[in-house]
Amino acid sequence: MLHSFFYLLALGSLGRATPLPEHVLHRDTDTTVSANDCPGYTASNIATTDSSLTADLTLAGEACNVYGDDLKDLKLLVEYQTDERLHIKIYDAGLQVYQVQESVLPRPKSKNAKASGAALEFSIEENPFSFSVTRKENGEVLFDTSDTPLIFESQYVRLRTKLPDNPNLYGLGEHSDSFRLPTQNYQRVLWNAESPFIPRNSNLYGSHPVYYDHRGDKGTHGVFLLNSNGMQININKSDEEGQYLEYNTIGGVLDFYFMAGSKPAEVSSQYAEVVGLPAMYPYWTFGFHQCKYGYWDVNYVAEVVANYSTAGIPLETMWTDIDYMHLREDFTTDPERFDMHKMRELVDTLHNRDQHYVLILDPGIHAVANYSVYQKGHEQGVFLKAADGSDYLGVQWAGTVAWPDWLNPKTQDWWTDEFKEAFNPETGIDIDAVWVDMNEASNFCGDEKCDPVKDNNGNPPAPKNPPRNNTGRIIPGFPADFQPNGTPTKLRLRGSKPLKSRQNGEAGGMKGLPDRDYFHPQYRINNHNGALTQNTILTNITNIDNTRQYDTHNLYGHTMASMTRTAMLARRPSKRPFVLTRSTFAGSGAKVTHWFGDNNSTWSDYRVTMPQMLAFASLHQMPMVGSDVCGFNGVADQYMCARWAMLGAFQPFYRNHADITAPVQEFYQWELVSEAAKKAIDVRYRLMDYIYTGLYYQTTTGVPVINPLLFLYPNDANTFGIDMQYFYGDALLISPVTQDYSDSVTFYLPDDIFYDFWTHERVDGHGETITRQGVAYTDIPVHIRGGTIIPLRSSSANTTKALRQQNFEILIAPGQDGKARGRLYLDDGESLVQEKVSEIEFEWDGEKLLANGTFDYMGTGGESALVSKITLLGQSEEVQDGNFNAEQGSLEVRGMWELSGGFEVKVGA
Ligand code: NOJ
Repeated sequence: MLHSFFYLLALGSLGRATPLPEHVLHRDTDTTVSANDCPGYTASNIATTDSSLTADLTLAGEACNVYGDDLKDLKLLVEYQTDERLHIKIYDAGLQVYQVQESVLPRPKSKNAKASGAALEFSIEENPFSFSVTRKENGEVLFDTSDTPLIFESQYVRLRTKLPDNPNLYGLGEHSDSFRLPTQNYQRVLWNAESPFIPRNSNLYGSHPVYYDHRGDKGTHGVFLLNSNGMQININKSDEEGQYLEYNTIGGVLDFYFMAGSKPAEVSSQYAEVVGLPAMYPYWTFGFHQCKYGYWDVNYVAEVVANYSTAGIPLETMWTDIDYMHLREDFTTDPERFDMHKMRELVDTLHNRDQHYVLILDPGIHAVANYSVYQKGHEQGVFLKAADGSDYLGVQWAGTVAWPDWLNPKTQDWWTDEFKEAFNPETGIDIDAVWVDMNEASNFCGDEKCDPVKDNNGNPPAPKNPPRNNTGRIIPGFPADFQPNGTPTKLRLRGSKPLKSRQNGEAGGMKGLPDRDYFHPQYRINNHNGALTQNTILTNITNIDNTRQYDTHNLYGHTMASMTRTAMLARRPSKRPFVLTRSTFAGSGAKVTHWFGDNNSTWSDYRVTMPQMLAFASLHQMPMVGSDVCGFNGVADQYMCARWAMLGAFQPFYRNHADITAPVQEFYQWELVSEAAKKAIDVRYRLMDYIYTGLYYQTTTGVPVINPLLFLYPNDANTFGIDMQYFYGDALLISPVTQDYSDSVTFYLPDDIFYDFWTHERVDGHGETITRQGVAYTDIPVHIRGGTIIPLRSSSANTTKALRQQNFEILIAPGQDGKARGRLYLDDGESLVQEKVSEIEFEWDGEKLLANGTFDYMGTGGESALVSKITLLGQSEEVQDGNFNAEQGSLEVRGMWELSGGFEVKVGA
């Protein structure tokens, strides 16, 4: 018996023969079988409760085995988990097919909502089986699989949904394409890969199989497919087939979460309920960071720090790339160039100046007997194993390497112990954060024929880019004995112990079907590297829990980053960890941060930072992101670098980084860029509490700190495709110059009141574009959205610590109704558990500013919790008030208001 909320649709016609476009299917061998011959499934034994439905799905005819073996018996589970979230899962009855481990991505708990009260409605068609999801409120069909039969094979799963023509789709990262996805002949491949130059239309470093479908005033919804297998999502429209989105995975199950929205930001919050709210990061991490691959000794690193202070450009954090390692081995320092004595002096000096330090780590562990990190890992059995039980080897920077199995709980202990030893504040390098790289994993050993132990000349592969000699220069601001002393820094064990045999994990459910072609599955996803195994860990390798890399490849970086976060926490349990990772998966934002990898020093890649940031922050729930400012590969020129220095200051993570082969590009290298950077950092720092407050609310509610225009103007169709402008927080519209060497920009202003951030001039938006000429390289157009209140620091500072000693100012930007709102969150900036925080709500009611909320954080160590100025924008000369600033059209009231309790301030006569 079915409950009334399920539409039992009339039996559909069997064998609907809709032709598939050529590019959808790739067969290695010529065959007469095609996906169109597949029989689909029949649903039976449908059982429902108030909040769920289950059914059996049985192969409806002769197996087509188009790219593997059809599975005969499937199960369907439908759960109304909350009023806004619908869970639909199609999986094998035998529970053999791989499912992402709960330990990797814990599933959200169902609240068993009643179907009758839910925003979405599930409908099933039994024969052939298909389903649809409808928004109840307006009957909008959001997902409908009835056009093509479901295919569920051992190495190929296909499901297609029809969509309205030219839909507004977003997500399915990581990619470097437009924020709103193309809707014709477009493929999104999800297979984490080393991706130099961040190619367009390609798979990149991370996988986030979630898309948002925005239908203007008909609502926005999200669809998350919890599946880590390699996949290709085809989005296309043709006369015969209409508009569709089609999932083609090479394994795993169809585990969907539909999020009803109905506003875009609500979808984002609901997605955070599934994959986890993002973690909160230390205040100082919003400071400016400098890095370069190729700072070849500790003196050079110190020199860069000194140069920044000489140039008067605030540098919050210095980073060191693999240059610091001894022979490119994790947890070691090069005794010649980065000797421990000087490294400790460097870190002490930075810390005494309230600056920070970060080091890189790679997953590939140099597999040599006299390297204790490897030795201990080997003894503890933490590495992935080859079929004969030996450590499975590959090649990374150090040469021949073993790969930690991040699914093995023992790996955590080993990794944490290494952290505690190497980064011990008393005896090692007291890092403040850590950077994990190359964790897709990137393997210099090309394919299954590669020998990781010998190079073409029969020698062990040597470290790439060997270190260079010490500069030996004296560095201003650093201790006089800043000289190399040549002491090796790590106990280097000799002799290797015999291999212990591998402990087999218990054979169990959902570990992956046996006997698959792990290297060359017949359905080929369009991986930009070629074959699945190209330059990564071989996909036939078994993890500790008997799952295969074939299924878990896309989780390698995520699991490494998660364990790294735990290691950082173990080392400093009371402080918020900051881990920057290259490779990510859905849910990574709950633990770590991300930069967009090895981009280019080009205008095109400068532009692309915007859609990339928007996707991660507003869709994938990874707000702390940014690109290598001024570009990683190639030659940065001063004009592009100046523009990027300005733009980067309005993105959450702000780091200048370049490759070893790239010329230097620190901001101080050019006068123009210095000027731009000083201005950019100045304003970024003054706005730091505003953006920190935005991050805090994303970590507690999932409402994004960075907003695409359509998130704030969801009914304005002009905003749906905009990705060269965005809101930094919910109040500041950033509209940078985007064209190469141009000084003009055409940007869109929605139908609303805005104020120029720099001049405070009121600018009315009319839902039209505006062209601004003569935008200097040291300028970036920023507008305040009417209706908002922004807390700013009264002046900037050299470090974020000094910044926190500055008073606040409050900027009121009245909206169309003459009113405005804003927030300020205050805490100590770094404790994992905060004892006292302030959550202050500001409101401008047209006459007075009201501050309400909680006021428990009053600052420590000279920090300010005082407001010294209130500025009301949009005032005209008629206002008879001594505080009128004619140039800016604003009223300014000075005083001292303590943020220790609610207060009211009347502004104006
Ligand atoms: C690749 C990373 O993407 C890049 O940022 C880094 O500089 C190099 N590896 C060297 O570690």
